[in-house]
Amino acid sequence: MSLTREAVLHIDQETLNIQERFARLVASHPDRPKSYHIVTFGCQMNTHDSETLAGTLQHMGLTRCTQREEADLVLFNTCCIRDNAERKALGNITWLNEIKKKRPEMLIGICGCMMQQKGMAETVLKKYSFVDLAFGTGTLYRLPEYLFQLVDEKQRVIDVSREESTIAEGLPVLRDSDFKAYINIMYGCNNFCSYCIVPYVRGRERSRKADDILKEAQGLVKDGVREITLLGQNVNSFGNDTGEMSFPQLLQRLEETGIARLRFMTSHPKDLSDELIEVYANSQALAPHLHLPIQSGSNSMLLAMNRGYTAESYLDKVGRLRQALPDIGLTTDLIVAFPGETEADFEKTLELVDRVRFDSAFTFIYSKRTGTRAANFADMIESEVASHRINRLIQLQTGITKEVLANMKGEKTGILVEGVSARRKTQMSGKCGRNISVNFTGGDESLIGQIVPVEITGAGSNTLRGELEKEKD
Ligand code: SAH
Ligand code: SF4
Ligand code: F3S
Repeated sequence: MSLTREAVLHIDQETLNIQERFARLVASHPDRPKSYHIVTFGCQMNTHDSETLAGTLQHMGLTRCTQREEADLVLFNTCCIRDNAERKALGNITWLNEIKKKRPEMLIGICGCMMQQKGMAETVLKKYSFVDLAFGTGTLYRLPEYLFQLVDEKQRVIDVSREESTIAEGLPVLRDSDFKAYINIMYGCNNFCSYCIVPYVRGRERSRKADDILKEAQGLVKDGVREITLLGQNVNSFGNDTGEMSFPQLLQRLEETGIARLRFMTSHPKDLSDELIEVYANSQALAPHLHLPIQSGSNSMLLAMNRGYTAESYLDKVGRLRQALPDIGLTTDLIVAFPGETEADFEKTLELVDRVRFDSAFTFIYSKRTGTRAANFADMIESEVASHRINRLIQLQTGITKEVLANMKGEKTGILVEGVSARRKTQMSGKCGRNISVNFTGGDESLIGQIVPVEITGAGSNTLRGELEKEKD
């Protein structure tokens, strides 16, 4: 039995009922804000949290306002993964204060990962005195109570208490799309990669109950959702704390709901199991795409990053995945200029990227995060060297992406149609199983939300072109 099993606590019905009472009080309060606008930074976790925040606000009678300057309540759902994410959020918040000076009734709130950093609550209290509401990642379910305090008691609310081992089920969610949906399967992370702030701001790993996940998925399928993306910082650890079932078993159970397409984010290479590779080989619903962050091609960097695998073991897993599913598209994350990275280390990353031939890659310059182990590492890389390295890496990957995409010409593939192409209004646009955007001719808006057969006819630098396959008479 693991330690965390005991620690995870589902928010009980009584607590949720109290929140429901607060929600009703806000909904009938004469001074309540009438409209809201949420600004979201960061990853899919935050995007999905924002859907829950929106659902909760709608439930209290607020309506969405597309212009942030005009909203009565503006919530910033922040990210602190890198310094620039943090600066962007703070810049946006400070800018909005200028509007608030003209519209003093406007309420400004900050939530998300940035608020969970040590000392952040104090900073907000002192430096951002115009902020009315601040809360962290673990207490979204308390938004009705916070809003009630704000409107009824005219009190500033700052609550960044952790409550990291709790899971709240059944909160209202206002999903951004009718046919694509996110489902959280677990929260937090236990990996402590030496550069990463996530375990500090999102807490320890805790899995949702499989039944809760399956029920949510069944509801979505019933509502016509075609694609579900499962979310977790390391989905491969799903169930380690509850002992209920493994991640590959969960995927199989989800497939039984009849969902057309399944995706997940993110998978840690050290925990990618043979069982998962087998699901890739046999599943009808699992999209032929895997985001598998490698971070570096140098074993000494991987060790310093505390990643728990080597370049060789990563390549071995890639080989086995491709054997099981030759057309699988791989994408990755890469960090350059980690402390102590030599030119030789960096060249190993280039070599690895050249060997794997990812469909695409997110590339980042290492950013020091206070509180993480790497923040104390010596040998910071100079910023000119870092910029030069990232540019070389981007150049290499850009060429590979172009070639990979060009090689897909002639393929027939299913596209989940998302809308009219932004660039060519006569074409429709959607994503193939490998998660690459495809603009295609022969379709119209009636196809939005459906998976349709398309033949790939050409490739640009990041997107594919195609033609809708007409049904034969
Ligand atoms: N849980 C996911 C990723 C979370 S963060 C995973 O483990 O794969 C997304 C990406 O941001 C990471 O994969 C990493 O490449 C990058 N990243 C995280 N911390 C960073 C830092 N301090 N500096 C630069 N990039 C960072
Ligand atoms: Fe961060 Fe590593 Fe956890 Fe991903 S696995 S969230 S990179 S600590
Ligand atoms: Fe950022 Fe938090 Fe995601 S730090 S990357 S929003 S988990």
